[in-house]
Amino acid sequence: MSIASHDTASTPLPHPSSAQDAAAEPGREAPIADWVTIEDLDRDPFPIYARMRAEAPVHWVPAINRYMVVGFDACHEVEQDADRFSADEEGSLMKRSMGHSMLRKDDPEHQIDRASYGSTLRPATIKNVWMEIFAKNHRTWMDHLLAAGPGADFVWDYAAPYTADNLRLIMGFHSATQEDMQRWSQTLINGTGNYADDPEVWAQAERSSAEVDAAIDEMIPYLLRHPDASLLSGLASMPIPMEAIRANLKMTIGGGLNEPRDVLATTVWALLNRPEQLAAVQADPSLWGAAFEESVRWVAPIGMYPRQVTQATVLDGIRLPAGAHLGIVLGAANRDASRWDNAEEYDLLRPKQAHLAFGGGQHFCAGTWIARAQVAQVSLPAVFAELPGLRLAPPEASVDKGWVFRGMTQMPVAW
Ligand code: HEM
Repeated sequence: MSIASHDTASTPLPHPSSAQDAAAEPGREAPIADWVTIEDLDRDPFPIYARMRAEAPVHWVPAINRYMVVGFDACHEVEQDADRFSADEEGSLMKRSMGHSMLRKDDPEHQIDRASYGSTLRPATIKNVWMEIFAKNHRTWMDHLLAAGPGADFVWDYAAPYTADNLRLIMGFHSATQEDMQRWSQTLINGTGNYADDPEVWAQAERSSAEVDAAIDEMIPYLLRHPDASLLSGLASMPIPMEAIRANLKMTIGGGLNEPRDVLATTVWALLNRPEQLAAVQADPSLWGAAFEESVRWVAPIGMYPRQVTQATVLDGIRLPAGAHLGIVLGAANRDASRWDNAEEYDLLRPKQAHLAFGGGQHFCAGTWIARAQVAQVSLPAVFAELPGLRLAPPEASVDKGWVFRGMTQMPVAW
């Protein structure tokens, strides 16, 4: 979810040297990773994460004005303990951009919003309703890619419109287009990361927010008359405050589009660079699920999300003061060498092992089944079946980028 960024304004936060209230606790202070820069993270975070993990599971990182939790065990501990590590972070830019959604609430308030999503994203609805719609959307956007011809960009001519169209219908935005979904998603996400307080970024996020509100107001009366399996149709008849409905839907627009798009393109890129693994999955189609899981482990589409410490505590041996802002770095936890052999490599045949790409605890991703269905069950097998000789054209033109969200930003292909 695009929601999961380090989305607070950059006010000074407690850090190790001012951690008076943590002084009585056992454990050691977090190392200060003043060598980490946002530019380096954006280009390639993985060597940085490897160095950080080797030194300590938690670091204070001045460049992002928060602690980065990079060890698998430490990330897992945070996810499982919402009393010590709250999702309701003070100063959240996400709340300003999208409203107060379930993602920034703790139980019991969070659970009310989460339950309001009903059965829309669950396996039975996927099987009975969404699979057919995903297959239809695949056809539309595969035909678009074919018409664009060799040299087309796999991300922008196929993966992005395909996943945006899927999300549009899952959410019930029948009056919108997939382009609207992409624009809303990106501008709302940009708001959640607007540390520079750029007025133009706020203006775009506010415009999208108003457009989403208008689409919701337009669709609710229609869906009350013509109910379907979508989120908005279910919410239309529920006793949930409109404010929460709007915030949750904006968060889901931000969070349900980039990640399926990014895992789809990253998996294709990984396989095209590893012909022996592509041959293995083509020989045994039951491996498409493993190709997907290994992809989200290897490059977590949500690289980091925020939490705030509620009381002075010790996390995997590192002291943290009350109020400290944390970045839970899934992108680093998922390559922890204490958990995976050869963790930096993509290997779809590696032994099955739970990863953290979908988070955990109360906020475990509500869209995991739907992401797997549209990417691993519908799209990946069809892409490789319908584009014989698919290749990166040329390989060096592909670009992978980002750390809070990471994916392919450019991927010209031929077949
Ligand atoms: C590969 C694709 C995806 C990945 C890797 C992913 C990852 C995540 C992660 C890490 C979180 C937890 C963030 C946090 O705790 O701050 C999350 C939450 C969530 N995701 Fe996803 N997501 C994906 C696809 C989707 C899709 C397709 C949808 C909806 C159609 C979706 C809906 C949600 C919702 C509603 C939440 C909030 C759950 C809660 O707060 O209880 N996700 N996702």
